[in-house]
Parts: sequence; C-alpha cells; structure tokens
Amino acid sequence: MPTQHNMSHLPFGDHKNAPWYGKDILSVKQFGRENLEYIFAVSHEMHDMVDHIGTFDLLKGKILANLFYEPSTRTSSSFTAAMERLGGSVIPINDVKYSSVAKGENLADTVRTLECYADVIVIRHPEVGSAAIAAKAARKPVINAGDGIGEHPTQALLDAFTIREELGHLDGLTITLLGDLKHGRTVHSLARLLSLYKVKLNYVAPDILRMPAELIEELKAKKIEQTEYSGLETCLPQTDVLYVTRVQKERFTDEAVYESVKGAFVIDPKVLKAAKERMIVMHPLPRVGEITMEVDDDPRAAYFRQMEYGLYVRMALLAMVLGKA
Ligand code: ASP
Ligand code: CP
Repeated sequence: MPTQHNMSHLPFGDHKNAPWYGKDILSVKQFGRENLEYIFAVSHEMHDMVDHIGTFDLLKGKILANLFYEPSTRTSSSFTAAMERLGGSVIPINDVKYSSVAKGENLADTVRTLECYADVIVIRHPEVGSAAIAAKAARKPVINAGDGIGEHPTQALLDAFTIREELGHLDGLTITLLGDLKHGRTVHSLARLLSLYKVKLNYVAPDILRMPAELIEELKAKKIEQTEYSGLETCLPQTDVLYVTRVQKERFTDEAVYESVKGAFVIDPKVLKAAKERMIVMHPLPRVGEITMEVDDDPRAAYFRQMEYGLYVRMALLAMVLGKA
C-alpha cells in the first residue's frame, strides 16, 4: 500500500542546522568519509522511497533552476526527476541559446536572475571554475554539474555510491580508470573522492590523455598507490572496478588529434574474459564506442544501474542543501 509507507525512521524533516543546509556543492574536496557515509545512507533511503511510494512531498514548493551551458541527458534529467520525485518543480534552461545568455548576459547576472525565482541552482558550464563564479554571485546554493575539464562532483558521489551498492565496500579495491584521463572531469572528481579510502588506482590512457600530473601529485601526498599503464593487459585481472570513459571530443582543438586517439580502447566480451568474475564495469556515459553493446548483457556491466543510482544520490543532495535531510 504505497501511501502507508512509514517515513518515521527516515532522516527526513527540517534540518536547518544541518551542515549542508544552504551550502554549495562545487568540488569533491568538500567531502570527508563521514559525509559520504551519510550521503550513501540518505541515497539508500531515497531508493527505498522511490520503490515504495514513487513521489513524495519532502521538497514540496521548492524550485530548482537547471542551467546547462553544455549538452546533458543524464545529469539534467536526473536532477529534474530528483526534484519532481521530492514534490518540487524545475525551471529548465537546458539550452542557453534560447536564454538571454544568447544576448550576451554574463554568468553572474544569469545566476542572480535565476535565484530570484528558484531555491537552488544546478549549473553545467564549459569553463573550469565557472560553478565557483556562479556560487560567488548567488546567495542560494549552487551545485556544480560539470565545469569544463574541472570537476563533476555529483557524478563522483553517484559513482562511489554505485561501487558501494554493487560491491559492498570501497576499502581494499583496485580501481582502473580508462580512457581520456586528461579531459575527463568525472575521473578527476572520482580519483579525488576515492582517495578518502584505501584503494589502489590504475590509470590506463593514450600517452596524450594521461591523468594530469598535479592530480597524481595531490593523491600521492595522500599516500594513494597509483600506477600508470599504456594498456589494460597487466592490470585488468586484478581490477575490481573498471571505469571506462569517452574521449572528450569537445575538448580537442585539432580534430585529427581526436581521430588518432578516439578508438584507443574498446571493451568487448573478449577483453572482459581476462577480468575477475566479481568485478564491475562502469561508465559515466554517454559511450561512443568504447564499450560495445554486447557487453550490456554481462552481469558485470553496471553502467545502466549506475545512472539510476544517480537519481537517488541527487535526491539526497537536494534534500540536504535545502535543509530537509
Ligand atoms: N557525461 C559526463 C560528463 O559530462 C561524461 C562524458 O560526457 O563523457 O562529464
Ligand atoms: N554522466 C553525465 O554527466 O551524463 P550527461 O552528460 O548525459 O549529463
């Protein structure tokens, strides 16, 4: 009986003194292990609530402005779904070319405008640091949904949640990040977030797309074991999580250079023969050929489940910054 679901045991209600109330989410650097445990617990409850009652009124009357300067399917629609599942509503600016940005309005003014109408702003923008600029201009919470090659913190949170749900824990795992590690904001955020745990990180990339040296140094200072490879052969058999990424075409200035690396790694059933039986394959998506569709039926293919987990994590984050969790 959906409407009789008992919410009394849940950590929901008015939490105006809660640490995340009114806060921006700009980088994974803001989170510690205890925050992650809390986010995972709330996300888990959100999953349960969606399964049992679908939509409920935790954020009734609240409004989210979804401001996207770059294309998106998952992030944009899962934030919309998250807000609507919680009883709130959304101002969708999914293509800024139909907004006054096309007339030359700057980021700060755009954000100041939206916060007159909304309680929280989600922003994706091609420039590193843009979410921080937006947050500085706004009094309302701003959530970074991807700032150029910088960070994609809500993706990293849902990635960590996925690993937890699928494998039960993060400590002790070997995680192999594959593909465009230079431009991939998801791997930049995820590697940083994983450094809160006792993990081994492998980086597999074409030479021109290697993990940025500063990020490697940052994690080295945290005593994270990191190894770079030019191919998967040596590290795949030890891997618990294979995190595949798309070569980020939109970050290349020379199309010929993109063409030379775009097909560098393709995961197909033959490649996965060398992988453990208990491991998962993840991908932030969209994929454009780096995982073949034949892999989809393999129980280790977790990438579609991963994007569903994103809904629950974003519901948790919205409830937190709006003082309801
Ligand atoms: N959707 C992810 C991002 O926006 C990954 C990708 O586009 O390849 O960063
Ligand atoms: N993972 C991700 O950010 O997907 P979109 O680019 O479709 O939002």
